[in-house]
Amino acid sequence: MFRRRNHRYEYLMDPECIFILRSGLPRQGPGSDECTEKAYRMLSGLPGHPDILDIGCGTGAQTLVLAELSGGIVDAVDIYLPYLKELERKAKEAGFSGRILPHPASMSSLPVPPGSYDLIWSEGAIYLMGFREGLEYWSRFVRDGGYIVVTGVSWLTGAQSYEARSYWDREYPGMRTVPENVGIIRSLGLYPVGTFVLPESAWWETYYTPLGARVEQMRAEYRDDPDMCAMLDGVDTEIAMYRNHSGEYGSVFYLMQKR
Ligand SMILES: C[S@@+](CC[C@H](N)C(=O)[O-])C[C@H]1O[C@@H](n2cnc3c(N)ncnc32)[C@H](O)[C@@H]1O
Repeated sequence: MFRRRNHRYEYLMDPECIFILRSGLPRQGPGSDECTEKAYRMLSGLPGHPDILDIGCGTGAQTLVLAELSGGIVDAVDIYLPYLKELERKAKEAGFSGRILPHPASMSSLPVPPGSYDLIWSEGAIYLMGFREGLEYWSRFVRDGGYIVVTGVSWLTGAQSYEARSYWDREYPGMRTVPENVGIIRSLGLYPVGTFVLPESAWWETYYTPLGARVEQMRAEYRDDPDMCAMLDGVDTEIAMYRNHSGEYGSVFYLMQKR
């Protein structure tokens, strides 16, 4: 189990452009404390102090909310060690050092026995494995009666503009509509508890607005680095895409139970 381990943080990988870009931001993806709380309160029958696994936790915006709301222990997994160090600092500051346990691990190779958790949570990260693949793999780590809650960027309309469709077909070809994803949940034998679309403010306030400012700052710092400049251009394109097409896609909370 994670919590019996004695961790020393060491860099598992060289920092990459995208990690550097998102360091120091309030979040590494769209979301808000209010939405995390809303989703948590939609779950019924959790034990008093649930065992929670937060996958792709980043610097832990949602991890802190989960620790506060649940009173339980939250194992927080991410592959990028500086994010985990930042989370460790924030957890200590908030008085949650003993209940938020950061672990460097890959979401596709979790070093825990099956049935370890009452709740698996993942905001903005399941797309890295694929919606079906992530749920299929993670569901083995949930106890019977436990829950999985994820957010994923999803099509909100059946027909999309050429511009949005061709952009996302390149960037995230696995993107589906909400009913399609709910169909996947059912096909895996999980019970869909509910879904809701994050408001646009959850993209702007804690994610794209600070990210856009960071892009501007980094353009000056990295003007002689062509890889970094190309990545910054890509982020600007992504932000402009959302500004122009936010009615067509959004980040969606999916809540499901293992029965
Ligand atoms: C879009 S961010 C979401 C972070 C956070 N949940 C949030 O909403 O602010 C995706 C996170 O997944 C992490 N990640 C990427 N590949 C991973 C992997 N193979 N295993 C675990 N975490 C990974 C990244 O480091 C990043 O923190």
